[in-house]
Amino acid sequence: MSKNYYITTPIYYPSAKPHMGHAYSSIVVDFFARFKKIEGYKVFFLTGTDEHGLKIQRAAEKNKKKPLEFCDQISKTFKELSKTLNLSNNDFIRTTEKRHQKSVQNLWNVLEKKGEIYLSKYSGWYSVSDEAFYLDNEIETVEGIKVAKSSGSSVEWLEEESYFFKLSKWQNKLLDLYEKNSNFILPKSRKNEVVSFVKSGLKDLSVSRKSFSWGIKVPSNNDHVIYVWLDALTNYISALNYPNENDELYKNFWPADIHIIGKDILRFHAIYWPAFLLAANIEPPKRVYGHGWILSGEEKMSKSKGNILDPLDIIQKYGLDPLRYYLLKEVSFGNDGNISKEKLENCINSDLANNYGNLCQRVTAFCEKNTDLKVPQKDKFNDEDLKILNKYNSNFENLIKYTDTQNINQYINFILDQLFAANKYFNDQEPWKKKSDIKRLNTIVYVSLELIRKITIMLYPIMPNTTLKVLKIFGMKESDIDFNSITNNEYLLVDKKINKLEILFKKIDINND
Ligand code: MSP
Repeated sequence: MSKNYYITTPIYYPSAKPHMGHAYSSIVVDFFARFKKIEGYKVFFLTGTDEHGLKIQRAAEKNKKKPLEFCDQISKTFKELSKTLNLSNNDFIRTTEKRHQKSVQNLWNVLEKKGEIYLSKYSGWYSVSDEAFYLDNEIETVEGIKVAKSSGSSVEWLEEESYFFKLSKWQNKLLDLYEKNSNFILPKSRKNEVVSFVKSGLKDLSVSRKSFSWGIKVPSNNDHVIYVWLDALTNYISALNYPNENDELYKNFWPADIHIIGKDILRFHAIYWPAFLLAANIEPPKRVYGHGWILSGEEKMSKSKGNILDPLDIIQKYGLDPLRYYLLKEVSFGNDGNISKEKLENCINSDLANNYGNLCQRVTAFCEKNTDLKVPQKDKFNDEDLKILNKYNSNFENLIKYTDTQNINQYINFILDQLFAANKYFNDQEPWKKKSDIKRLNTIVYVSLELIRKITIMLYPIMPNTTLKVLKIFGMKESDIDFNSITNNEYLLVDKKINKLEILFKKIDINND
């Protein structure tokens, strides 16, 4: 079985600075990437920016900048955000890079040679904001303006010469793909939407534009630029050096294990992308997961609605790891999630400060007073010790399954249960009353330290910075983290020095905020 794992975020439009929705997609992917790494996989995690098309050209014009100059500036803020979010990405691709342009033109040539592309004329609706074509029945009129029903973005009528991709030809092959690979589209509820859309009949897709120039040129006809979605989707293979099929990256990591995207761009990833690939005789990705939206109030957060929560403001005020934890826990993955500062503050106080922080602080403070800040010599574990320690062994396969099925919430719920159980264990065992039975006191401390170690490893993909601080008390570094070791009840070496722990999370005074 291959031990490689390839995971991607969508590549973001650098039309304006990043917001919480973008941060969310990236944090989710980072969670899975870090988990797979500690599970023992060689991971390739890709993110980047999607820089061509009319949307970007117009945004640049509005800012009185040349498109590339504009993209350079905003793409940089996305790149910086990936650092601020502590993403473990292996690459950051920009679609204006030469390596990408070459790949896209190559894919185009393959499709053209195979007779999958033909020249004709497009007339229909187009949304520049979504960079998407819409059918008449997908349009409605709101306050005199024609908009796409699905996104609410305004559409304009378009009539121009265009190359078409024979999408209609791939309808049955796509339906086969969805049937044979039942988890190709997740969550299941979204799969049904896609399947019924495909069943209702696919029309050939316009894949070039003639009326503007900001894009990758059609190799055989420089009057046209390649449709921005055909360009953008190709990033997933151009970053692996497609078309060089002998390239190590391409050989090891394609097909991707999962593309994580927002539900609004599912059609592009679950229909167009596998159709392009099948037509070019390239294997489609293994899975596409369409997550929900981060809502502010009841609406999707977006620049045009002016309801943006800036991830940088939140991080500056509360710290990165609390935000990562909050987004992963609070949003039911796959569904929309409403976030607010109040809920974030409650989450920091209850889950992080009172629960995880408290466990780590109490146990290490107890060690300082009673075991000379060392891992104590333990006695035989009793039934209660074994019951709580072995909880991880009996759930080990489940925890891997939760991540393999993108069930973030169940994964976090398991950790939360264990945190409550570990705090309760320490309370109930009352080691402070066992000073006359030093063997038992030491064993309780040993078990508690093991519980902290196990829980911290499970929390690492969610809160890498904080958990590394905690693991440091045991002298452990990032490269020492191995998920398999959560089933080991005697990992900690007796007499090993425990380093002091700083306060992990400051409690927020909610009334004075
Ligand atoms: N450039 C395309 C993607 C091309 S991938 C080959 C694009 N870019 S985007 O910047 O508009 O959106 C990128 C991702 O952010 C999408 O997955 C989108 O769903 C997600 N989000 C944008 N706003 C969002 C929220 N308010 N909430 C959660 N995610 C949302 O689409």
